[in-house]
Amino acid sequence: MGMLDGKVAIVTGAGRGIGREEALLMASLGAKVIVNDVGASVKGEGGDKHPAEEVVELIKAGGSDGAVNASDVSSWQGAKDLVAQAVDTFGQLDILVNNAGILRDKMSFNMEESDWDDVIRVHLKGHFAPSHHAAVHWRARAKAGETFTGRIVNTSSESGLFGNAGQANYAAAKGGIASLTWVLARELGRYGINVNSISPRARTRMTEDLFGEMAKAEEGFDKFDPRNVAQLVAFLASDEAADISGQNFIVYGGDIWAMGGHHVVGEIHRDSMWTPGELAAAKGELFKGVSSGVPPFNIA
Ligand SMILES: NC(=O)c1ccc[n+]([C@@H]2O[C@H](COP(=O)([O-])OP(=O)(O)OC[C@H]3O[C@@H](n4cnc5c(N)ncnc54)[C@H](O)[C@@H]3O)[C@@H](O)[C@H]2O)c1
Repeated sequence: MGMLDGKVAIVTGAGRGIGREEALLMASLGAKVIVNDVGASVKGEGGDKHPAEEVVELIKAGGSDGAVNASDVSSWQGAKDLVAQAVDTFGQLDILVNNAGILRDKMSFNMEESDWDDVIRVHLKGHFAPSHHAAVHWRARAKAGETFTGRIVNTSSESGLFGNAGQANYAAAKGGIASLTWVLARELGRYGINVNSISPRARTRMTEDLFGEMAKAEEGFDKFDPRNVAQLVAFLASDEAADISGQNFIVYGGDIWAMGGHHVVGEIHRDSMWTPGELAAAKGELFKGVSSGVPPFNIA
């Protein structure tokens, strides 16, 4: 018995990198997998079908079933077709892993309008559009009286949680995905759908400049292998994670941090309006005890 036997999953951006390992692992655990990928470059250009086709071949060679989908996840209709393909091909949808993404890193003062628009579109709309259409499918099943468990696993980033210079577009999208995860978890919980997100670190073409050499230098356990990340995603996709929703996990190697949400680091209160001058005088009290390491403050 595999942990995902009988489940039907979609993994977006599953032709390469982390998504590829998520699709292969979930298939090896018994899921039928729609391998979505437009086959774009890191910057989001081009359309190579081969990586997604290869993943489906590997899934079939491993004894499970899968199918390629080449929709752009940031297209409303493309996302609708993606969910419809899962239902038409395998009868239902149980698991949606939103993973597809691109990068256009630039400092804010150098960023082009298209760099902003494309990164926000692919990540943020590319997470919401499949989630919307999956939610429509699940709500209809719930209203028809069916009992089932649905899962969404989103892909955020530490850049979105803490901010990273040179990634205004990417961090804004990834922070938005963390917030979107909370909203979807609140909205869909009543239908038996759990929604979580991960903030991974792994060596892929997206990060080879960052982690490439560092990871290769290590012997033994490869902390930057994207297969490490896939394990957590498969667990979150399973029935075993029925009591986990609305969470964001930083994950790499054998390390997992459950991040919780935003939390208060200081406070001041009164029963009357503050003036700007009074706030200037009270700022020390407001930030009392805040460490210099807490973003975005750098209080000495
Ligand atoms: N690698 C890391 O350390 C790291 C860190 C934080 C977050 N992430 C996130 O993890 C996810 C996967 O990244 P990766 O490192 O595996 O990158 P990757 O470039 O190896 O894979 C991304 C895949 O998404 C596909 N894609 C791009 N635009 C698409 C679209 N519109 N529709 C469908 N598919 C599309 C690409 O063709 C590619 O196959 C991304 O969301 C990324 O932002 C990665």
